[in-house]
Amino acid sequence: MNEEPQNKKIGAALVVGAGIGGMQTALDLAESGIKVYLADSKPSIGGVMAQLDKTFPTNDCAMCTIAPRLVAIGRHKDIELITLSTLKNIHGDPGNFRVTLHKKARYIDETACTGCGSCVANCPVRLKPQPLNGESIIQLAPEVKERVDQIIGEHRHRRGPLMLVLQSLNAAYNYFPEDVLRYVALEMRIPLTQILRVATFYNAFSLKPRGKHLVNVCMGTTCYVRGSERLMDKFSDALEIKLDETTRDMQFTLKSVRCIGCCGLAPAVMVGEQVFGKLTAREVPGIIQKYRTVT
Ligand code: FES
Repeated sequence: MNEEPQNKKIGAALVVGAGIGGMQTALDLAESGIKVYLADSKPSIGGVMAQLDKTFPTNDCAMCTIAPRLVAIGRHKDIELITLSTLKNIHGDPGNFRVTLHKKARYIDETACTGCGSCVANCPVRLKPQPLNGESIIQLAPEVKERVDQIIGEHRHRRGPLMLVLQSLNAAYNYFPEDVLRYVALEMRIPLTQILRVATFYNAFSLKPRGKHLVNVCMGTTCYVRGSERLMDKFSDALEIKLDETTRDMQFTLKSVRCIGCCGLAPAVMVGEQVFGKLTAREVPGIIQKYRTVT
């Protein structure tokens, strides 16, 4: 009997599904000298495991398990990835199958794409002004438009203008009215989704109208163990609002924060820019009174 040379390719295999099982199968087959086609219906490989933090029962980091395999597959000369594809039909006999795959369009040139994400930020479809409540034009009151135009004009030629514009709008309105954000998106040619990502990330910004004075009760660990929950209850009772609500006279909005950076003064509360440290529930009515009288 003739011995086969060790490195001789003995065929090709199709692995359907590029989850952790499919990936390992593809690697094992390729390592044994078989050409592998690894197909998956998703745009990328990794399957459910790529979405996990830890895996049962060892509590191993999922990404630490999957990352070396992702790299190995990407670099392996005998593994060909066929993503965005589903199996249409298969016929033939063992050793000689013919398979038809249905491949969806990816709409990008995979050989040219570097994964920089610029196409997402500059997508011409998303940059189109979106209608507001059925209207095709964003209409701002003349004085609002003038103010917003002025703010945009001040910052649009500076580096990273979005944050500067949002800070100025926040200073002017204390929150971001929806039609103002849409107008900014249109004028600055920045996708609204990108603006909302920034506007909703920072605690200092709000999409809802807020009171003149922002009461931030620190619920960070140090303040919490020193009784900030009692302070929160006291503010809530005294202002007759719940967390994240605003008083009817638009004077106070009650918020919580995770550490305001002065743990030595715990429990701490910030009203506007002023920090009140080592605060007791008994002092709360006095603080509210002080700000109520400041108009
Ligand atoms: S935990 Fe409250 S200031 Fe740090």
